[in-house]
Amino acid sequence: MTKKQRKILVTSALPYANGPIHLGHLVEYIQTDIWVRFQKMRGHSCYYVCADDAHGTPIMLRAQQEGITPEQLIEQVSKEHQRDFAGFSVGFDNYHSTHSPENKELAEAIYLKLRDEGHIDRRVINQAYDPEKEMFLPDRFVRGECPKCGAADQPGDNCDVCGTTYDPLELKNPVSVISGATPIKKDSEHFFFKVTDFEDMLKDWMKAGHLQPAIANKLEEWFEIGLNDWDISRDKPYFGFEIPDAPGKYFYVWLDAPIGYFASFKNLCDRTGLDFDEYLAADSDAELYHFIGKDIIRFHGLFWPALLSGAGMKTPTAIFAHGFLTVNGQKMSKSRGTFIKAETYLNHLNPEYLRYYFAGKLGSGIDDIDLSLEDFQRRVNSDLVGKVVNIASRCAGFITKRFDGKLGSEIENPDLIQAIIDAGESIGQSYKDREYSRAMREIMILADQVNQYIDDRKPWVVAKQEGADAELQTICTTGLNGFRILLSYLKPVLPVMAEKAEAFLNIDPLNWDSIDQLLLDHEINKFKPLMTRVEEKAIKAMIEDSKQTMENTPQKTVSAMLEKDPIAEEISFDDFAKIDLRIAKIVKAEHVEGADKLLRLTLDIGEERNVFAGIKSAYQPEDLEGKLTVMVANLAPRKMRFGLSEGMVLAAGPGGKDLFVLHPDEGAQPGMRVK
Ligand code: 2FM
Ligand code: ZN
Repeated sequence: MTKKQRKILVTSALPYANGPIHLGHLVEYIQTDIWVRFQKMRGHSCYYVCADDAHGTPIMLRAQQEGITPEQLIEQVSKEHQRDFAGFSVGFDNYHSTHSPENKELAEAIYLKLRDEGHIDRRVINQAYDPEKEMFLPDRFVRGECPKCGAADQPGDNCDVCGTTYDPLELKNPVSVISGATPIKKDSEHFFFKVTDFEDMLKDWMKAGHLQPAIANKLEEWFEIGLNDWDISRDKPYFGFEIPDAPGKYFYVWLDAPIGYFASFKNLCDRTGLDFDEYLAADSDAELYHFIGKDIIRFHGLFWPALLSGAGMKTPTAIFAHGFLTVNGQKMSKSRGTFIKAETYLNHLNPEYLRYYFAGKLGSGIDDIDLSLEDFQRRVNSDLVGKVVNIASRCAGFITKRFDGKLGSEIENPDLIQAIIDAGESIGQSYKDREYSRAMREIMILADQVNQYIDDRKPWVVAKQEGADAELQTICTTGLNGFRILLSYLKPVLPVMAEKAEAFLNIDPLNWDSIDQLLLDHEINKFKPLMTRVEEKAIKAMIEDSKQTMENTPQKTVSAMLEKDPIAEEISFDDFAKIDLRIAKIVKAEHVEGADKLLRLTLDIGEERNVFAGIKSAYQPEDLEGKLTVMVANLAPRKMRFGLSEGMVLAAGPGGKDLFVLHPDEGAQPGMRVK
């Protein structure tokens, strides 16, 4: 019976063309690449396309800063991105750009269809405008004081301290990040995509199982709150595509970004003769999958299917969202050296270590995954080097030295080999379901069994026995047959090691369908180590390198900081005297779930206080416990998103890890007044 060959188009989110690929990005590209390699190994027609996301204000401004054109910038960055992806064996079938003729054509065609069918509205909106730079400002390009809690230097969309969301024009003392000017309010006509026209379609689509449960719940919430039309235009100056019949108005970057998936596929079709419509016409029987981070679900789970349905094109078969990456349990940090660029990693460590480590952590859900560097070293060394490669290195030498590289004509333990073959079904299912951590566990259990077999049969002892040649050859043949099947199972994750194993075993590329074909009476090549151990010093060197790369980025000068953060209005001595400063003992310090910057402190000042402090970037909670700090004890309690904050601790420093809150403890007692 021949298996039905599926037609599958797969994408990963398009990286912005103004920054380097880092390990956070790689979770997604590695996750997708493993899935695609698995589908290909199963013999399906599977294409994996991606592109640089090249439009928008940040890219336009970055090019200006560097004194080059946006086109020059995106060309340069595209080369770097493709170099890094290749370094990690991310095997795109095509890598394109959203700033391409195919994307312009598709974006215009989709827009015109929507417009002609009445799904585009125009209305005037009022926005922050930089009068010096003469441009409208994206929310994140305005900073000022939070209208709710008064925290200084907050971005224009939401407050990092209290979590309130607001409009940039609601900030107190707003400043344009680009020029330092005070933004003004200015009217402009914008184009809106009427998402509400597609509410019924979206509800049906959502119920039809295209989304993970947690994501479907999120959408459900948005429906309950009520859908809004989506603003798809931006005014000049803007780096993007001008909207047809609307001079000076451009498509918002997020409109043509997902269309870039199709543009990349179109480019592939035009180059190779593949049929675009066979995959993407509304009635095609092909499957379309988008791997994305959970932060961009609104664009992929709401706007994108609505847009495609309105344009009469194929809607996604599924959206596969994943969580974020933390390193050593914390957000990646430039000062700690854990903000690791792909390029930096590649200068120190084998990319397949990371592919395996991520595979061992990834499931089908949207939980964040942690790269603990100690665990990384331990796991790779114990599983890949200690278990998998070890099987080959324990058997291959005897075959080469004693049998001229020739495997025997039979295996000794057919039950063991059959059990490994039978596990293929469940391992395949785990890959298909994106339950890679389950697949890795299943594979390592099998590797343990093969090693156990070798331990029991002790080929190194048999090798010394007279007249036991045939036995020795059979043991090693059995071990190497087990190794071959395990490498087939690991091939989606470790394509380079699999290729080396194919060369060593002297066989055609490993495939899922050939798993049960035993290697007997077959000549293999001399064994060369397939992977070496992860060395701690290489990890340390990578961290140091990451710190240095980041240190080389210019620091803000004090005067520049003061300029942005002027001294506040004068207060009288009486005002000052009202502030009651007390020595506080930090009894307990904890992370706050969902807060990027905050730690929850339990303080003792003779009575107990609960205070949220934005010092997470500088301190590990355990380093604070038992130490002294200074707090404002008579500040009115404030209700924050995470609970009530009863006071404030005093901190000094430029920020990041250099933020100091501790008080020397000589003679100081909790509750003592500070004068
Ligand atoms: O969030 C981002 O990095 C975007 N550049 C992703 C775009 S994905 C797709 F829609 F193009
Ligand atoms: Zn706030």
